[in-house]
Amino acid sequence: MRLALGADHAGVALKTRVKQFLDTRQLQYKDFGSTAAESVDYPDYAVQVARAVASGAFDYGILICGTGIGMAIAANKVCGIRAAPAGDPDTARLSREHNDANVLTLGARSLSEEQALHIVDVFLATPFGKGRHQRRIDKINAIETSIINDVERTT
Ligand code: RB5
Repeated sequence: MRLALGADHAGVALKTRVKQFLDTRQLQYKDFGSTAAESVDYPDYAVQVARAVASGAFDYGILICGTGIGMAIAANKVCGIRAAPAGDPDTARLSREHNDANVLTLGARSLSEEQALHIVDVFLATPFGKGRHQRRIDKINAIETSIINDVERTT
């Protein structure tokens, strides 16, 4: 499993803890930044991680900002990305089982390190449920395709 990681200034410290956790599991990852405490803009990191996952080079992305919301909004602009902000393990599990989420977003200002690592653990361990859930993912993919077709028709 290969993971793409990203964070803004609010998520840098938690990203370091997530990397330590992934090291203990011997999981491979690439850190797309940020690595500093200086204020940065979360979409700059969301788009790098989202494109890396959408390309197929990485299985999952983990994006961390203050709330997890900005990262999710930005990452979900990239075709093929299903980014889920999860504030508890059950939501993380359902985001995989029902939504085949390929990016997990975390809120560093609302989660303890322990809570966040538990969420990461559950997210990575849960397979997609397939069946009726696949039909719904297919419908999401069809929306993306229709948007691309609309853009092509008008340009
Ligand atoms: C940065 O202050 C904050 O806005 C950002 O980390 C994130 O929470 C946005 O959704």
